[in-house]
This record gives sequence, C-alpha cells and structure tokens, in this order.
Amino acid sequence: MSFQVLVPDAVHQSAIDILEASAGICAAAPGKLERAALLAAVADADALIIRSGVTADAELLARAPRLKAIARAGVGVDNIDLDAASQRGIVVMNTPGGNTIATAEHTFGLMLALARHIPQGHQSLLEGRWERKAFTGLELKGKTLGIIGLGRIGQAIARRAKAFEMTVIAHDPYLPPAIAAALQVPLLTQNEVFARADFLTLHAMVSAETRHMIRAESIALMKDGIRIINAARGALIHAADLAAALDSGKVAGAALDVYEQEPPPAAHPLLGHKRVLHTPHLAASTTDAQVTVAAEAARLVVDFLLHGRAANVCTA
Ligand code: MLT
Repeated sequence: MSFQVLVPDAVHQSAIDILEASAGICAAAPGKLERAALLAAVADADALIIRSGVTADAELLARAPRLKAIARAGVGVDNIDLDAASQRGIVVMNTPGGNTIATAEHTFGLMLALARHIPQGHQSLLEGRWERKAFTGLELKGKTLGIIGLGRIGQAIARRAKAFEMTVIAHDPYLPPAIAAALQVPLLTQNEVFARADFLTLHAMVSAETRHMIRAESIALMKDGIRIINAARGALIHAADLAAALDSGKVAGAALDVYEQEPPPAAHPLLGHKRVLHTPHLAASTTDAQVTVAAEAARLVVDFLLHGRAANVCTA
C-alpha cells in the first residue's frame, strides 16, 4: 500500500524529493491548481502539503475522504478550517521556524524603504526626474519601533532593530516575560505601544481580538507621523480607516505585504495610495526559507503517514 501526498501549490522541490525518496509514499505535485481541479484532485489524497495560496475549507475537506494530514509549509494556518479538520480526524501541522529570518528581513526592508522612499525614488528616476529634495527621508537610529507580537519573527526583528540603534518596545500577551527581558525589550500594553511607536510592525495572528486592531480608534492613540508595516496578515488592519489616516497625514506611511483578500481587489482602498508601499505576500519568499519549510513539511507528513508521529500540531 502506498500513501498519496498531494502538493497543489508552489512548494519547493525539496518537499517532492523527500516524498519520492520515502518508500510507501507517492507524491502528486501538479503545481498550483484552480479550485475545480483542486477539489477533484483531493479525492485520492492521504495528505496535503500547502502554502497560503490553497484554501483548505470545509468543502475541500469533504471532498477528501482519505485525507489524514495537512502540512502547512509556513506558519499561518488561517487558510485551513481547523474545526472541520478536527471533526474529520485530520491532523494539521505547520513549520513555524523555517521562514522566521526571511520574514524579519523583509519587514526590515519595508521599514527602510518607507523611511527612505526607496521605491518612489527608483520610480521617479526611471520616469526621467531627478528629485532629491522630495524624497528626503529619516533615520531609524533613535526612533522607537513598536512590535505587536514578539514571537519568533518579532524577536528576530527586535534584534535587528537594536543593531540599528532603535528603541524597541513590544506587546505580546502570550510571551513569557523572561524572553522579553533577555532581549531587553519592555513588554507594554497594546495601547502604550501604539502611543509610543514611531514605526509599528505587526506580527500577530488574526483572532477575534486582533482582527482590525489597526482601525480609527487605535490610530487616534498613535503619534502623528507614525509609519506602519504589516507582513503578518491583512485582516489585522481596517484598510479604509488606514487610508483615511494616510489621507489626513496622521499616518505618514504604510508598507504592506499582506491583504485581507489576496490578491487585493483593484478597488482596495490602499492600493495605489501615494504613501503606501506594497509587496505581494513576499515576506517568506526566499529560496532559503522555502527550501527549509518545504522539506520540513514533507518530513512531517512522512513521519505521520508511515510512523503515526505528529509534530507541530495546530488546533483551533
Ligand atoms: C506564513 O504564514 O508562513 C507566511 O505568510 C508565508 C506563506 O504563506 O507562505
């Protein structure tokens, strides 16, 4: 008997290599599938390996009678219906460590690009202008970085920010205080972080408490001229409220890698705003990170299917 592992997403080849080298496992890696093809393909799958581009909702799980495990090559499992999976006895696992540095570095890149108007300067020069004054920036040194969510990624950002001589403060209700103390990052209330930050970066999961945490009421608490970076999940920000705060100048700039709907619709209130920088959910997209998370996801699936061992299990 052989287990079929379906990889219906742009997961790095390192996953397929591990699956193919495992006796008793057969890999089906068609690449990114349209929804109808995906619903048909899951019928024979014993396990799935996916990134954020595949939505494993109740409908998909209902079409997969043999499915025993889903491995997420990445951190966030908000694209998987965890309740429906648990009702069907499907184990969901993720690979939380593999893309930490990629995401921290991308966040830092966005912060530097915001501070120094790098994309705007690039575009203006390509369009034939030589505008030095218009793109005067500001230094990170001496500025306060507020980090919402001091998990693996938040901590990696904190270390980098300290090397840039920033003052780092954070909010994280789940972190053991000793970890923040070792990093010399004071843990404050969310509102204190909002009030003190010059730059604010979000690294929280989306929950009933965190959905739209950046909205008119919270923005009102912030310093005038704050800059906001989001490389976590789009739903942390109320896009229309942020657009209004950017229009008024209350928020000086925002850099977004993630969107409540991906890709964002053309009518998204922040798309094309002159004070907003965009990347298309690239934070974890380094070759280094994708090799690591893909290989780890494949090992999780092989271990589960062949030996019944589950690790990094995610529950609702
Ligand atoms: C993650 O949750 O790991 C990142 O958003 C990257 C991805 O979705 O692939």
